[in-house]
Amino acid sequence: MTIPSPSGATITGWGTALPDIIVTNADFEARLDTTDAWITERTGIRERRHGGTTAGLAVEAGRKALDMAGLTGADIDFILLATTTPDYQIPSTASQVQEELQINGGACDINAACSGFVYGLVQAHGLIAMGLKRILLIGAETLAKVTDQDDRNTAILFGNGAGAVVLESVEGDGQLISFDLGSDGSARELLEAPIGGYMSMVGKEVFRKAVAVMVDSANVSMADAGLAANDIALVVPHQANIRIIESACSRLDMPMDRVAMVLHRTGNTSSASIPLALVDAIENGRVKHDDNILLVGFGAGMSWASAIIRWTGHLPEENS
Ligand code: UT7
Repeated sequence: MTIPSPSGATITGWGTALPDIIVTNADFEARLDTTDAWITERTGIRERRHGGTTAGLAVEAGRKALDMAGLTGADIDFILLATTTPDYQIPSTASQVQEELQINGGACDINAACSGFVYGLVQAHGLIAMGLKRILLIGAETLAKVTDQDDRNTAILFGNGAGAVVLESVEGDGQLISFDLGSDGSARELLEAPIGGYMSMVGKEVFRKAVAVMVDSANVSMADAGLAANDIALVVPHQANIRIIESACSRLDMPMDRVAMVLHRTGNTSSASIPLALVDAIENGRVKHDDNILLVGFGAGMSWASAIIRWTGHLPEENS
């Protein structure tokens, strides 16, 4: 296609999906050498969801986002599905979502682990800048299937879920103000799962690096946007561990009452965690027009990503 003069994008619909099976800390306490107190204090997680498939959760979240935007799959030019737990090695999970939602355009998966949704957000803006009109961006994961449920180091942390947004082209600048994407492949062995195997993680080292890259990346995005911590109305961090979030936010001078949080009820859902937290914040009236929102994630790879969006789009009535 020919490339028109760039246009911006705005989020016009959103939706989430969590599978039905709730696994509480008490469930782990009953069968592993762990306690509810340890898990709550060391991670902030109280429960997480198991079950579902990545495509099934993505379809459910995606359908809600389309409904809210008043669109059908036929209106969508491209689907980007961020996931690190696809249902099949081949083909992409996005291809099943494309068929089930009857989307007309292209479909592909993005694997940038827990940074995947923000990577996808930036790529969606790029495609819209090149002339596409509407994109469905989904983060969906079934991490329980790549987690050894007998390993207390990882089992307590990870859960399944999905979050989706519809992005539509608009005249002028749109919502995205700045972004920063990064990767340090030399650290990839700190968190990995071989094909067909379970995840292993050097938790302490991931923790240390996570705080550092979140702070650095957020500072890059804020500097590029010409914004200071005070100008950020809401931080939507990757939901891995409350202590990581507290530590990063304290270094960024962001008070915790400006932080979106779903970790306690979802656990770490990798690329689904930022859209789950963003949608939760919107639906609880925490996003207002013209708010600057900082999204910041990190994860396996090691990858990191941050973006600042100014909320100029649609909001539920009561938020406006
Ligand atoms: O999405 C991004 C990827 N992942 C992350 O962001 C996770 C980053 N890391 C973390 O969140 C934390 O490192 C963990 C929550 C994984 C672990 O917390 P920690 O404070 O770093 O604990 P630790 O690994 O230093 O372990 C402290 C102790 C150890 O016992 P010893 O060696 O001191 O006797 C562990 O064996 O806690 C033990 N431990 C547990 N105890 C009870 C580890 N897991 C558990 C558990 N219950 N579930």
